[in-house]
Amino acid sequence: MNPIADLDILADTTAPVSSAPDAQSEIDQPRTVAASAEAPNGRRVFIETYGCQMNVADSELVASILGGEGYGLAATEDEADVVLINTCAIREKAEDRVRGRLARFRAQKTKRLAAGEKDLTIGVLGCMAERLRTKLLDQEKLVDIVAGPDAYRDLPNLLASADETGQAAVNVHLSREETYADLTPVRYDSNGVSAFVSIMRGCDNMCAFCVVPFTRGRERSRPVTSILSECAQLVEAGYKEVTVLGQNVNSYRVDADGHAVDFAELLYRISLLSPELRIRYSTSHPKDCSDELLHVHRERPTVCDFIHLPVQHGNTDVLKRMRRTYSREQYLELIDRARAIVPDIAFSTDIIAGFCGETDAEHADTISLMEQVRYDHAFMFAYSERPDTYAARKYSDDVPEAVKKARLSEIITLQNAVSLEKNRQRIGRREVVLVEGTSKRSDEQLRGRTDSNHMVVFDRPAGLAKGDYALVEVTDCSSATLHGTFVSATTLEDAAHPSAAV
Ligand code: 5AD
Ligand code: SF4
Repeated sequence: MNPIADLDILADTTAPVSSAPDAQSEIDQPRTVAASAEAPNGRRVFIETYGCQMNVADSELVASILGGEGYGLAATEDEADVVLINTCAIREKAEDRVRGRLARFRAQKTKRLAAGEKDLTIGVLGCMAERLRTKLLDQEKLVDIVAGPDAYRDLPNLLASADETGQAAVNVHLSREETYADLTPVRYDSNGVSAFVSIMRGCDNMCAFCVVPFTRGRERSRPVTSILSECAQLVEAGYKEVTVLGQNVNSYRVDADGHAVDFAELLYRISLLSPELRIRYSTSHPKDCSDELLHVHRERPTVCDFIHLPVQHGNTDVLKRMRRTYSREQYLELIDRARAIVPDIAFSTDIIAGFCGETDAEHADTISLMEQVRYDHAFMFAYSERPDTYAARKYSDDVPEAVKKARLSEIITLQNAVSLEKNRQRIGRREVVLVEGTSKRSDEQLRGRTDSNHMVVFDRPAGLAKGDYALVEVTDCSSATLHGTFVSATTLEDAAHPSAAV
C-alpha cells in the first residue's frame, strides 16, 4: 500500500515513486479483501484493486452491489469462485502488472478444472476494461467478464450470463449520468477510522498525457444530499475522517433546489455534520482552486490544511504542451495565495519527468519550482506514453529512457531532502494526531496522521485507541515519518479552541 521512495524502483521508470507517508494519489501494490463474509448465494468473490483511491472506492461499490445479490467476499483467491481485478491504465507498467495477475488466475482456473474442482470466473473491472477488452477476451482468452467503470450495476447480470452460457460477458459502456449515488459502499478494507467518499466521476480536462478521460468518461457530480447522508452514516458508524474523491474535485458542481453548489460549499456543508470529522480531498486541479475553497480551509477547523495540488511540471512551455491550462507563474501565485489565506497549509504534488520534448533547461525549471514551493510530499513519475492521448497522437515520446531515469532520480533526491528538512522543522511542535492503528514495526507504538497529513509514530499510552485524537509532541523524524511523544488525549473541538477546554 505504500510506494515509499526506493531508488531501486528507478530501474522501472514507469513506476510511481512517492515521498509521502502513504499513497494519496496512487497505489502501487494491490489492495485486496481483508476478511471473508457470509455468502448467501454460496459464491465468494475475491477483489484485487490497483491504481488510485477512486478504484478503492469503486471496489467498495462493487462489493456492495454483489453483496446485495448474495455474494460473499473471499479473503484469498484460493477460497474464491470469482476473482475480479479492478485495473489501472495510467501507466504502461500498471497494465503489465495486471496482465501478469490475469495470467496467473487463468492458470489457476485451468488447474482447478483439470482437477475437477470448482470453476473460477475471472473478471476485469475499471480502466483497462474498454481498451483491452478485445485483447483480453478474444486474443489471450484471459477473462470471462469485462466491466467498465460505469457498468458495475450490471455485474450480477454479467456473472450470471458468463456462468449460464460459458461465453464471455462484456459491458464497457461509459455513462454521462452514473454516479452510484444511491449505493452504500462496503468498506471491507477500511481501518474503521477513515473512509473514501466518491463525489464525482470522470474528467473533462484532457491533459495531453492522461488516459483517464478515455477510460472513465465525462465528468459528472453526485447529488449533495447523497454525499451528505453517506458522510453522516460514517460519523454515526464512528468514522473520524473522510477523504472525498474525484478525478478533479474542484470542478464539482450540482444544482440543488435551483441553487448551484460548488466544491467549496460542499466541503463547508460536510464540515457542519460533526466537529470531530476530519475532511480531506483528492485530487485537485490548480485551475479550479478558488479563494472560496481556501477560505473554507481557513474557517473550518475540521477541513484539513493540506492540499494535493498536482503541478506536473515547472516550465510554462511544457505545461502548455501538457495542456494543463496554467503557467508556472500562475501556479506559484496560487501557492502564495493559499499560504497567505491559510498559514501553515501543507502541499503535496504529482510531477512527471521526461515528457515529450523536455529539454535540460525545462527539466531544470521543475527542479527550481520544487525548490521554490518546497512540497511536503510528492508523487514522482517518469512519463509513459498512453494510447489515444493527445500526446500519443501529436508528440514524439523522445526523451531517452536513461535521461528520464536520471531526471526522475534528481527530482526524487531533491524531494526526499526537502521532505526531511520540512519534517525537521516540525520537531518541538505539538500536533493533533488521529490514531489509525498500531505502527507497522511494533504493537507498542501507535500510528496516525496530523492535520497536514504527516504520518506520526509514538509510544502507545494506556487507554488510547484507534479513532482517538491525541496531542503528540514531535521529537524526531525521517523524510517519511515523524516520531513523537504522547502529551494528552484531545478532541478536534478542544484542539481548535484550547482556551475553551481549560
Ligand atoms: N505518464 C506518467 N505519469 C502520468 N500520470 C498521468 N498520466 C501519466 C503518464 N502518461 C501521473 C500524473 C497524475 C498522476 C495520477 O499520474 O502526475 O497526476
Ligand atoms: Fe488526467 Fe488531467 Fe483529468 Fe487529472 S485532470 S485525471 S491528469 S486528464
